[in-house]
Parts: sequence; C-alpha cells; structure tokens
Amino acid sequence: MATQIFMALGMNQTLGMASTGEGLQVLSPRHLRYHETWISGGNGMHFLVTGGAGYIGSHTVRALLQQGHSTTVLDDFSTGHRWATQGQAVIEVDLKDLGALRTALAGTTFDGVFHFAAKSLVAESNREPQLYYQNNVDGTAHLLTVALENGWNRCVLSSTAAVYGNPITDTLGEAHPKNPISVYGQTKLAMEHLLERTCADHPFSAVCLRYFNAAGAASDASLGEAHDPETHLIPTALKAAAGTGKPLTIFGDDYPTADGTCIRDYIHVEDLANAHLHAMNYLADHQGFIACNLGNGVGFSVKAVLAACEQAVGATIDYSIGARRKGDPATLVADATRAKDVLDWQPTHTTIEAIVASAWVWERTWEIHEDRRG
Ligand code: UFG
Repeated sequence: MATQIFMALGMNQTLGMASTGEGLQVLSPRHLRYHETWISGGNGMHFLVTGGAGYIGSHTVRALLQQGHSTTVLDDFSTGHRWATQGQAVIEVDLKDLGALRTALAGTTFDGVFHFAAKSLVAESNREPQLYYQNNVDGTAHLLTVALENGWNRCVLSSTAAVYGNPITDTLGEAHPKNPISVYGQTKLAMEHLLERTCADHPFSAVCLRYFNAAGAASDASLGEAHDPETHLIPTALKAAAGTGKPLTIFGDDYPTADGTCIRDYIHVEDLANAHLHAMNYLADHQGFIACNLGNGVGFSVKAVLAACEQAVGATIDYSIGARRKGDPATLVADATRAKDVLDWQPTHTTIEAIVASAWVWERTWEIHEDRRG
C-alpha cells in the first residue's frame, strides 16, 4: 500500500504519516515541507497556470506570488491580457492543439497545475456549442494527457455553479443534482468528470472549485475584470454609470423572486484566488478528487446589485427591462460549507457593497493604464 502511494506521489524518499481526520495519509518529506511553508511563503514552488492571463487566473497568479511562489502562465490570449501576466514566464499555446501543447511542455515539471483556461459565457456557449466542447473539454483532455506524460500529479480546476442547472433547494451543496441548462455548464461538468476519472485511473489528485458569481477587483486595483465584450452584471452596470459601456438592460423581471429579478451569490475574486491556494495546499496531503463550492452563501437580486452599484458610484444608473436571458436560473446561492471545512477557506469580502466598491475603483482607474487599453 505504502509503495503504491509512494509511487503515486512520484517520490523516492522516506515516507511520513499524518492524520487528517479522513484516515491516515502517507506524506513524503517534500509534502511535509510544502505543508509547513505554504502559507508562510518562502521555499517558493512553481506552478503552471492555464488561463493565467484571464480574470480569476491572474488574481490567482498574484496570490501565489504574494506567497513567495512563481508561475508559468499558459494562455492563448484569445480573451486574456498580456498586462495581466505580471512578469511571469508565458507559454502562448492553444489547448486545442495537442501537438503544440506537447512540444511546449515536454519534459517540464510543476508542483501543481491550476487550470482556468476555458470559454465561460453562458449565452455564447448556447450559440457556439462546438467551440465550447472543443475549447473546454478537448482542451482539458489534452492538458491531462500532457500532465500524465510529464508526471505531474496535482490539479485545481476552475469550475462553476452552472453545473447544477435549476436549483431544487434554497442553497446548493455539492451533492445537488447536476443538470446544467447551458452548454457552458455541460462542458464544465464534462471537464469535472474527465478529471475525476483521471484521478481514479492514475496517480493524480484534483480539487474542482465551483464558483458562483465572481466579482470585484484586486484591492490595489492592479488587476480586475476586463472582458471584451463585457457581459457580466457588475462591470456592465458600472461601465454604464461611467459612460464607457452600453446602457444596462435587466434580463427579465418576471422571475419567481421577491423583486422579479435573478438572485446570485457574488464572491470576490481575491477570495476565489485565495481558495485556489487552499485547494493546492489540501492536495499536498490528500489523494483523489473532490469538488467544492465557492460562494458567500448570500444571494442578491439584480436590482439589489444595481442599488449597491449606485451607492458606489454616487449616482443613479439608468436601465431598461429586457427579455430573460436563455440559460439563467432564477436563483443560485452556494452552500460553501465544504470549502470551509475541508479546505479551511473563508471569504473575507462578504458584503455586496465592498465587492462592488472594489470593482468601481478598478473601472475608474482603467483609463489611466494605457497598457491595458491596447
Ligand atoms: N444580468 C442582467 N443584465 C446584464 C448582465 C447580467 O440583467 O447586462 C443579470 C443576468 O441575467 C443574471 C445576473 O445579472 O441574472 C448575473 O449575470 P452575470 O452575467 O453577471 O453572471 P451569470 O450569473 O450569468 O454567470 C455566473 C457565472 C457563470 C455561471 C453562471 C450560471 O459567471 O460562470 O453564473 O448561471 F455559469
């Protein structure tokens, strides 16, 4: 048994033992070092971050750097930004191209992989299902192929609450049925299944993080949301207020909620980034596959978010009521108990006002950063 796990970890040193509350785990000395030094920084580790030039990926790179680690960012820059890579080594490659991926990563070793690279827009996914399956599912299959070929053995996957579909409970725990109502959600669920199967069949372990609504920007406004086109509620409302975007349309006010607009659980991007570090830390001494929700556990309607945006901006924001957007469940609120218990993670930006305020600072400082406008 020990030899099997020993091999699985790819180690050739003496093993240690530790109790984790889920049975006795076998630890290598390297993992013990990893565990000890993770939060305090120092003895930096090196991680591959696919999609590291994107919104949540770049904030995770930043959090890793703050902990004394270094990264290689893998991105095709189809939606990511070079300014978001923060001086890290960059591999520009399309995950759909297995040959190019193999060539780019042959012989590399990483202490873990954070896999963010994916298409992530619900409406676009329903219009272009082939693109989403190729990009998200084939891309993940290729990444895992190369991971196994090179002996990497840990992955933290960026997943989504969209895997659940329409809720049948007030808050969503990980055991809630998975019936995605968008192609985006279907592809993320397929990515999860592929990863879970990889963990079952190979010496490979993974944490899959299901985000609810990512929002906000870095506390120092050095990073933030920069999609083109922008479709998410908070930046769309703030751009409308600043006069830098299109007018705001609320997609439906006839949902079965108190004010008729959709309810979402908004979670600050720095809290999401931090959860990835906790997840990788967890993989230092846990084998297998686990999925965890990431949210604040509190829902806000579109109109409530708009009120918070108006408070941050100090002005009213005009809007019109439009049709429902296909693929939008009425309510999505997380039960993130597992992430708190298992990953030892806690969100720190817990009010919608604080989340929106950080997004507003980012929007206001955008124009002074010429490098971001190109
Ligand atoms: N909304 C508007 N007007 C807009 C933009 C959004 O009314 O201009 C509404 C949407 O209809 C929705 C809410 O604001 O009710 C939030 O929409 P976002 O586009 O900001 O975010 P989503 O809820 O669509 O997206 C999130 C995650 C996805 C996940 C999806 C599941 O970002 O990863 O929830 O539905 F797939």
